[in-house]
Amino acid sequence: MRIVFIGPPGVGKGTQCKRLVEYLCIPHLSTGEMLREVKRQDTALSRWVSSYVDAGKLAPDHLVMRIVAQRLANPDCETGCLFDGFPRTLVQAQLLDEHFAKTGRRLDLVLDLQAPEEELVHRLLKRAELEHRADDTYETIRARLHVFQTQTAPLLEYYDRRGLLCSVNGLQSADEVFREIKTAVDRGRK
Ligand code: AP5
Ligand code: MG
Repeated sequence: MRIVFIGPPGVGKGTQCKRLVEYLCIPHLSTGEMLREVKRQDTALSRWVSSYVDAGKLAPDHLVMRIVAQRLANPDCETGCLFDGFPRTLVQAQLLDEHFAKTGRRLDLVLDLQAPEEELVHRLLKRAELEHRADDTYETIRARLHVFQTQTAPLLEYYDRRGLLCSVNGLQSADEVFREIKTAVDRGRK
């Protein structure tokens, strides 16, 4: 199966994707993790990427698509994969559609995880105490939430029109969220 996971910062995409890739035995493609990996190198590219990610802005669409396409060429992605936080703009969604059209693949399901903003801010500030991600400061969290609402949320309608969208309530325990996700995935597998 090929699944896209959409949701605002802190809603639990990473938490749920870890469980789902184990359940479906497919690779986890987190563009956030891929970009943080680029950031760890000391190159001109890493400094350029940091200037976007550390400010809570989206990295350029074509750069992200190039990184994703390289990963998709790996044989472990042949039977399926889980996209965590990609696509994040309409341009990225169109680039992914074009890539799939060229490679004879298609998307099976888009999961949309939702929770109220105050809960998202609370979760991320709590995570900041443990993980020290450069973009988990109050100002940057606010910027990331704004970017989600303006640039990513329009994708929900884009995928809903194609009958791919399934919304899940992220304001439940991680176990309850996963139960809902499993139900949607099992329905899609039949
Ligand atoms: P990315 O790494 O994708 O970050 P994000 O979207 O901001 O989301 P997070 O990873 O912060 O949250 P999450 O939803 O994974 O939640 P988590 O499971 O950790 O992207 C980072 C940056 O990279 C972007 O801002 C952008 O700059 C760049 N980027 C990435 N993709 C891009 C793209 N496609 N195009 C351009 N730029 C891109 O959970 C959060 C916390 O809550 C954790 O502590 C967790 O333990 C806790 N938690 C989880 N579930 C629950 C629950 N049910 N109840 C209570 N607590 C919970
Ligand atoms: Mg994440």
